[in-house]
Amino acid sequence: MPSTIDEIRTALEKRLTVARDAQDVRNAQIEYLGKKGTVTALLKQISGVAEDQRRQFGEQVNALKQWAVQAVEQRLSDLSSTARRYDIDFSLPGQLMPAGKKHILTQVEEEVESVFLSMGFDIEEGPEIEQEYYNFEALNIPADHPARDMQDTFYLAPGMLLRTHTSPIQVRTMKRENPPIRMIATGRCYRRDAVDASHTPVFTQVEGLVIDKGITFADLKGVLQEFVRGIFGSSTNVKLLPSFFPFVEPGAETAISCPICGGKGCPTCKSSGWIEMGGSGMVHQNVLREVGYDTSIYQGFAFGWGIERIAMIKYGIRDIRMFYDNDLDFLSQF
Ligand code: PHE
Repeated sequence: MPSTIDEIRTALEKRLTVARDAQDVRNAQIEYLGKKGTVTALLKQISGVAEDQRRQFGEQVNALKQWAVQAVEQRLSDLSSTARRYDIDFSLPGQLMPAGKKHILTQVEEEVESVFLSMGFDIEEGPEIEQEYYNFEALNIPADHPARDMQDTFYLAPGMLLRTHTSPIQVRTMKRENPPIRMIATGRCYRRDAVDASHTPVFTQVEGLVIDKGITFADLKGVLQEFVRGIFGSSTNVKLLPSFFPFVEPGAETAISCPICGGKGCPTCKSSGWIEMGGSGMVHQNVLREVGYDTSIYQGFAFGWGIERIAMIKYGIRDIRMFYDNDLDFLSQF
């Protein structure tokens, strides 16, 4: 039992600090300030102290008592405000915070980008509101070409439109940079198409462009092969079929062996074993000349595929409209 005034003070201070609730404090209050309490006992001793020391001792004991009363009150009020602050019922069920995620098309775009980044390609961008010049003229699409018909293109103002494909990014990149060029660009495109299971007026493309000395059709096929194997698996094959786009010569439609049935034939590939993915070809000399490249030195290839189409095949999605309906039950699956 502490005997001197200082020791009592220190002991009570410690006692109050470790007190975890009001009851603890009340117990300490009784021990120190109660009828048989330590401080009370000291007060009783005052009258027995020798006269020459009584006054000083009395003052010290009374000061201790005052401090003790005040310290007990303070601790009680501290404890009650802490209790209020943490007055939470941890047994209540929590509120579910739905985790956001990237849209499936963004996920596929990023996956495509990572495959091409691993092949050393750069990623370029271009505006969705585009000049007619970059969307058509510079791509060797003459004014009387059906693609320039109002039916297909959203015109905003004379000479301005919503890009109908990502190919204008080819032109912008070539005008800005010198060969060698290895780039892809993904982005939204717009066409005045009637909406059905495979057409929406807004869709997403990935454009690829390689320009260097000695680039051949075989390079095009090799890069596309690497690309589809990165996306659909290592047994996927690429087939090039003759096709026409004004900005490539020769031009090709690109098909991949059906990743669903492995080429045997299934509803997804309409029993053919092959699925058409988009256009490609060797960059037309008129386009290279338009951007100021020397066609006797440089050649190149380009391709433009639909991101929705890649996503539909990869995830077995039957209807392109699903991507744009904003149905969270659908989107949260990916
Ligand atoms: N831009 C073409 C389209 O949208 C696709 C394409 C790109 C074809 C590059 C050839 C080369 O249809």
